[in-house]
Amino acid sequence: MTTGMGRRLRIFRLPSDPMIGEKLVREGICGAYLGRAGYVGIENRGVHMKMIVAVDRNWGIGKKGELLISIPEDMKFFRKTTLNHVLVMGRKTLDSFPHGMPLKNRVNIVLTRDDHFAREGVVVAHSIAELNHVLADYDREEVYVIGGESIYRQMEPFCDLAYVTRIDYAYDADSHFPNLDQMEDWECTDRSEEQTYYDVEYYFTTYRRKL
Ligand SMILES: NC(=O)c1ccc[n+]([C@@H]2O[C@H](COP(=O)([O-])OP(=O)(O)OC[C@H]3O[C@@H](n4cnc5c(N)ncnc54)[C@H](OP(=O)(O)O)[C@@H]3O)[C@@H](O)[C@H]2O)c1
Repeated sequence: MTTGMGRRLRIFRLPSDPMIGEKLVREGICGAYLGRAGYVGIENRGVHMKMIVAVDRNWGIGKKGELLISIPEDMKFFRKTTLNHVLVMGRKTLDSFPHGMPLKNRVNIVLTRDDHFAREGVVVAHSIAELNHVLADYDREEVYVIGGESIYRQMEPFCDLAYVTRIDYAYDADSHFPNLDQMEDWECTDRSEEQTYYDVEYYFTTYRRKL
C-alpha cells in the first residue's frame, strides 16, 4: 500500500494487543499509522528485524525469570546465529544471563524504563521510540530480538523472520511467545529433522512473515 505522502506501508494485524498499534503511533515509531480497529501500517524501513526463541508445545518460553530448559545444541545455534550481530532484549532477560552480564562479541541493547540503569557493555534504550533512534546506527537485518515475552510482543510487528526452536514438551511456563501458528501474517517455512536431548524432542524451525 502507498500512503498519500507516497510512502510505502505494510499493514499488520495486531490481534494479540490492539493497544500496540496506538502505542506505535503515539511514540512515533518509524512512521506508524493507525488503520481500522486492530490494524496498523508501518513504513517498510522500520522492519526486517529477526526474532530468535526457544518455545515449548504451548509457546511457553520461561518461568520465574529463567528458561524452561537449556539445550546445548540450541545454545550453540543461538550463539552461532547471533555472533557479531546486534541484540535487543528486555532488562529481565539481561538479568537472567550469568552475573547479569551482556553476551560477548555482540552489541547488547537493553530496554528498561529505569533512568538510572547502567551496566558495563550495555547500550540502554528507555522506550521503543528511543530504541528506534539507537537502531538507526545499524542495518535492521543485523538485528536479533532475543526476548523476553514483553519485548517479543512489542517488536513482532517490526520483524520479518523468526528462528523458533520448537520443544515438544509442555512445561509449566509463565511467559510466552506469540503463537505464530495462529497469526495469519506468519508461516512456517522450514523445519529440521527431529532432534533429541535425552528424552526431549525438538526441531529447529523458521517462520517468515507472508509477503
Ligand atoms: N525461551 C527463550 O528463547 C527466551 C528468550 C528470552 C527470554 N526468555 C524468558 O523470558 C522471561 C522474561 O520475559 P519478560 O517479559 O518477563 O521480561 P523481558 O521482556 O526480558 O524484560 C521486561 C523488562 O523490559 C523493560 N521493558 C519492556 N518494555 C519496555 C519498553 N517499551 N520501554 C522500556 N523498557 C521496557 C522493562 O524493564 P524495567 O523493569 O527495568 O523497567 C521490563 O520490566 C524469562 O523467563 C526469560 O528466561 C526466554
